[in-house]
Amino acid sequence: MKTFICQVCNHIAFDEAPVDCPVCESAIEHFEKDEEAIKVPADLENLTNTDKEHVPVVHISRECDIHHNNECSVVSLKVGALEHKMDSEHLIEFIDLYINKKYFSRLMFTSKTIFPAALVHLSADTGTLSVISHCNVHGSWRTNFKLDKK
Ligand SMILES: [Fe+2]
Repeated sequence: MKTFICQVCNHIAFDEAPVDCPVCESAIEHFEKDEEAIKVPADLENLTNTDKEHVPVVHISRECDIHHNNECSVVSLKVGALEHKMDSEHLIEFIDLYINKKYFSRLMFTSKTIFPAALVHLSADTGTLSVISHCNVHGSWRTNFKLDKK
């Protein structure tokens, strides 16, 4: 897969480098092509503990208590199935969100005071949601999730 990584903020772009980084606004020169920018578990049937600590876990619900017209997809995100440590030397720094490979949001985390987890209310209800978690020690990990209206 063609992936490009911003050397300033570690944002990953798919297919081509953007003119400006959508997260930190660095120019295209700061992107490097890196086809191994995203870590993929070697064996999806037998995840290691390191895999389980980093691969994002995604659940979708159509039951929304904020928007009453039911046009919202509530996305529950956490990194990962096993709890990842959050201290100043080793932590999940952010989760980047994409639909159909197009970036739309970054959730930032600081050490200790927050779990690497969030609820996101999406207006989109079709397409592929990609969730990339970034650990400052172990790099970036991705989960893809199909958004299909029931
Ligand atoms: Fe880690």
